[in-house]
Amino acid sequence: MAIEADFSGRSALVTGAAAGIGAACARWLDAQGIARLVLVDRDEAGLAALELGCTAETHAGDVADPDFWAALEPQLGQIDHALANAGIAAGGMIADSSFEEWRRILAVNLDGAFLTLRAAMRAMAQGGSVVATSSVSGIKPMAGASAYGASKAGLIHLVKCAALEGAPKGIRVNAIAPGGVDTGIWDGNADFDRMVVEQGREAALRAMASATPSGRFASAEEIAQTIGFLLSDAADNITGAVLSSDGGFGL
Ligand code: NAI
Repeated sequence: MAIEADFSGRSALVTGAAAGIGAACARWLDAQGIARLVLVDRDEAGLAALELGCTAETHAGDVADPDFWAALEPQLGQIDHALANAGIAAGGMIADSSFEEWRRILAVNLDGAFLTLRAAMRAMAQGGSVVATSSVSGIKPMAGASAYGASKAGLIHLVKCAALEGAPKGIRVNAIAPGGVDTGIWDGNADFDRMVVEQGREAALRAMASATPSGRFASAEEIAQTIGFLLSDAADNITGAVLSSDGGFGL
């Protein structure tokens, strides 16, 4: 069943909007009648390719760059909703990982989320709602996912602190923790790429989902609908929550 909500007259900031979950969320908010989207991604061409009916302001940049946000914040105006979603994935055992790789993941997934959250909360003078895209990796420890998992666990704590700080100002802040989602984030993962070459993408996705009780990865569109619910007025009493959408992988 499709989730629907009325976002008419509202504005939203979405990061990582050029692809995957962020793009699906931008399209979902557009379909729910949102008036204005402020879309951020480092992929300028991907942002330009989005076909949306609402007013869409696109900003190409790195969410982990404080100077990018310093330039964008004066242009934000009133923001009602935000999705702190831009993220990157990488694996590697701790003993084999470089400090540079650790910093690369933490910079985008945690520093970037902090800068997004800060900009959004400053622009929510009339209250609002924020969702941050965490991951089941931020809840369930997995060998080979220390940097990614730590960034997503840190994000969950950041969300809970932000929920406490936002509540008196009418700002709700929640996290979504997806399991595997069929997006481009998997491309470039050595194991996945090898399976795609050997079996094709569909079979590779099925194989990757074999450890998920539901036996499948989610689509970006179904994650976007769940994010949309958390952003919407239907979730008015929900703040500081972490909503898992992982087909049972975290169990
Ligand atoms: P994706 O790779 O399809 O989309 C991510 C988008 O973020 C891309 O458009 C990329 O250009 C942008 N981006 C990456 N680094 C950036 C930066 N420094 N500044 C600005 N934009 C940047 O991936 P997906 O799956 O849509 O990922 C969205 C979020 O969902 C990420 O935070 C990811 O960690 C999280 N997630 C994804 C899961 C999956 O299985 N796909 C599972 C759990 C969480």
